Amino acid sequence: PSRADLYRPRFHLTPESTWMNDPNGLIRHEGRWHAFYQNNPHGSLWGNLSWGHAVSDDLATWTHLPVALPCSEHEMIFSGSVVHDAENSSGLAAPGASGPLVAFYTSAYSPDHPTHPGLQAQSIAYSTDGGTEWTFYADNPILDRGSANFRDPKVFWHAESGRWVMVTVEAADQQVHLHTSANLLTWEEASVFTHPGLDGVLWECPDLLRVPVTGTADAPEGEAWVMVISTNPGGPAGGSGGYVLIGDFDGRTFTTQAQPQPLDLGQDCYAAVSFSGVEGAPVLLGWMNNWAYADQTPTDPWRSAMTLPRTLHLEPVAGGGLELLQHPIVPEAVRTVDLGAVATAVEPVVLDAVEPFRVQGTLGLRTPQRMVLRFGEEEAAPELVLSVDAEGRVVLDRSAAHGVDFAPEHGASAPYTPAAGSEEVAFDLVVDRSCVDLQLDGGRALVSQQIFPGAAEVSIRGESA
Ligand code: FRU
Repeated sequence: PSRADLYRPRFHLTPESTWMNDPNGLIRHEGRWHAFYQNNPHGSLWGNLSWGHAVSDDLATWTHLPVALPCSEHEMIFSGSVVHDAENSSGLAAPGASGPLVAFYTSAYSPDHPTHPGLQAQSIAYSTDGGTEWTFYADNPILDRGSANFRDPKVFWHAESGRWVMVTVEAADQQVHLHTSANLLTWEEASVFTHPGLDGVLWECPDLLRVPVTGTADAPEGEAWVMVISTNPGGPAGGSGGYVLIGDFDGRTFTTQAQPQPLDLGQDCYAAVSFSGVEGAPVLLGWMNNWAYADQTPTDPWRSAMTLPRTLHLEPVAGGGLELLQHPIVPEAVRTVDLGAVATAVEPVVLDAVEPFRVQGTLGLRTPQRMVLRFGEEEAAPELVLSVDAEGRVVLDRSAAHGVDFAPEHGASAPYTPAAGSEEVAFDLVVDRSCVDLQLDGGRALVSQQIFPGAAEVSIRGESA
């Protein structure tokens, strides 16, 4: 395969030959996973934003379908979500049918739009055939604040209050707006959420999730609510990235005492949102790219992948409070190497790097040490390095992991600091060509990074200081 072919991941969703950004309209419906996404159907850079569409039975193999929601001359179709209106509360499907799928998206109107010049407002489209054919609603937009930065509607059903809830952002004001509705068509303002801990940036693509708490002996099972907010810039590793806040939601207002925590310590996880139609632990998917350099990834004509989907749980922490655990969903068939303790894994393990692979092992925290993935045999072969420094912090560094000149100033992930007193940290690293998903410490941290080594072979070894 050519160098460029070696960038195309096997089981991370990529567009066929065009541009992709945020995941949109994620839903599991009638046993199938639908991923819509921000797509430029006509090019490999951002523009002509429309909703691309792919479906999967297993979240690993994706089939592309035609563009679901195309842009038009004066309107781009920005990010949003899809729900199954099972009871046909909207009346958009014929009576007696199984209820429509309803897509909520942001109408991004052009500066010369006849009635909404330069504004962003929420609109809907619906499908009565399970998600293939979509019809734009005649009375769009359905929610308009006269704002130029009001976007990214995420809608879910809240059973306790018997209402639909929509979370959106006033991006430039750093606000999440919550609205509720009985019929998906008319919406009432419920509350506005702000947080001083996430400042100075655009807020985008919010999500509000009910997440199960895993029970332990002294803490019963239950659930809590997690707000996910993407910020650009201001991400944990520079450029764009995401944060989570753990709290409570009463059907109208989200409250939290917690500080924002990074959703992902890598550079490449943005606009992450959950699938609708999933019971229990939510499944989240992020855009595996960063606005700091998304237009420069060397994969032309296709651009961008999605992260691996990950499930979310909460666990009680000693001394009170909850922490978020995330587990990437990795296809069973992926070759797995157990490296054991990195400090003693000095004999390199050599693998074919064309097919996805997974490396598991442990990093000791008492002495600086590193695991090096070296792609190819040349003197200057690209290297991806997972290291522990003298302070016991874990960093994934892709500065030298490319066979091309790529984003040199965006090399190291944000560091992960394990709980005080820990002797070692387990890692689980998945490499699917240009897509790297790292899980640390049983899911206490994830690191998503793109690398562009372009080599057909990799050797993996440990080193200690
Ligand atoms: C986030 C974002 C959204 C917007 C979309 C436009 O990456 O800026 O806020 O809806 O991308 O493509």
